Amino acid sequence: MTQSVFQRAGKKLTVKGTSDRVNRVKISPIKEMGLLAESMQGVVSLGQGTPSFRTPAHIGAFVAQKIAEGAVDKYIMGPGLPDLRHAIADKLGRVNRIDANPDTELIVTVGANQALCMAMLALVNEGEEVLMTSPNYSPHLEQAGVAGGNVKFVPLVEEEGWRLDVEAFAQAISRHTKLVVLNTPLNPTGSVLPERDLRALAEVVLQTDAFVLTDETYEDFVFGKERHFSLASIPAMRPRTLSVFSFSKSYAMTGWRCGYVHAEEGLINQLLKLHDALCICAPLTAQYAALAALTGPQDCVSHFRGEIAQRARLVEKRMAELPRFSSQPLAGAYYAFPRVAGLRDSVGYCLELLHGAKVVTVPGSAFGPTGEGHIRLSYCMEENVIDQAFDRIQQFEKKQGHGQPLHG
Ligand SMILES: Cc1ncc(COP(=O)(O)O)c(C=O)c1O
Repeated sequence: MTQSVFQRAGKKLTVKGTSDRVNRVKISPIKEMGLLAESMQGVVSLGQGTPSFRTPAHIGAFVAQKIAEGAVDKYIMGPGLPDLRHAIADKLGRVNRIDANPDTELIVTVGANQALCMAMLALVNEGEEVLMTSPNYSPHLEQAGVAGGNVKFVPLVEEEGWRLDVEAFAQAISRHTKLVVLNTPLNPTGSVLPERDLRALAEVVLQTDAFVLTDETYEDFVFGKERHFSLASIPAMRPRTLSVFSFSKSYAMTGWRCGYVHAEEGLINQLLKLHDALCICAPLTAQYAALAALTGPQDCVSHFRGEIAQRARLVEKRMAELPRFSSQPLAGAYYAFPRVAGLRDSVGYCLELLHGAKVVTVPGSAFGPTGEGHIRLSYCMEENVIDQAFDRIQQFEKKQGHGQPLHG
């Protein structure tokens, strides 16, 4: 088994007596790389996906007003502020074509990750099968691990722009499959799953009893030819799909911690038990921020998207200057997942980049078995940070003798 970043760095990882549940969960290398970098000076990060943008001022102003009114001082009922749930249902209908009942089918959560984790805990029994793409957002593996799920990977087709292989899903899915986890736009590949492939996958899933968990955190970051498509907009899929969304990226609110999940009433009521056990309700400051985000001006979202699209072009240009790097077109989210020719140990390479070039990246092996040989570069940072990081990677590669174009 590949060693983790922390194992390689010689960190103490556990003590005697911790549960099997937590022991089997691997810490996400996204976190590991960031934590290692924290103790170093002068590091430039293309690691965690924290956008450089400030939360739009009207959002903070609304929350400040609510704090002054004393509106955030007390618990509220678990599913979330009624006004916020109505605004979410309205948005889901308008944008995602998901018909959502605000009173019975939504929970406002502490970011998308809480919703994803609750969904896995509510659906997956110990040893039950969870299908995921490889590569895939690594915390989904941790979440499935917490639930005790047995993860089975279905590779994306890299050379076709990380295409969803519906045939391979049809082969992999069976009566043992409890849950299919899908992420679009996709972290780490920067690709977007096309509507036609998702519709074809829905046909496959509908032959079984499996549920589907969709992670739509990057729905607003689509700048290629594909549009974002929500699986739960297909009527037959609606009763078995849990759709998870986030305010973190669209409104530059990663620190506020707010997201939401839509599912049919019976599922939501099961999730509410976990929600109450975990956090009672999402913080009201975050919920009011989300309300201001959804009901206020939306030009911030298109501005962020435009900036990210521009950064994608910069990253494509800079990757093209690195002879060993080859990447599929960047179409969504804000990650590049280049293949690095000759790379067999992405953990080792990312540690070398950290110590030798002072650049934070994330090893491809973190994202599933077909991630090895790649590294993930997040590009939601300012352009000068991206340039600085690429200058350092370029120098590092040259020093290692990889400065010239590869032949053959
Ligand atoms: C695919 C994906 N899902 C979920 C999350 C977490 O989102 P949140 O901040 O809403 O918990 C991230 C964060 O980077 C992500 O990339």
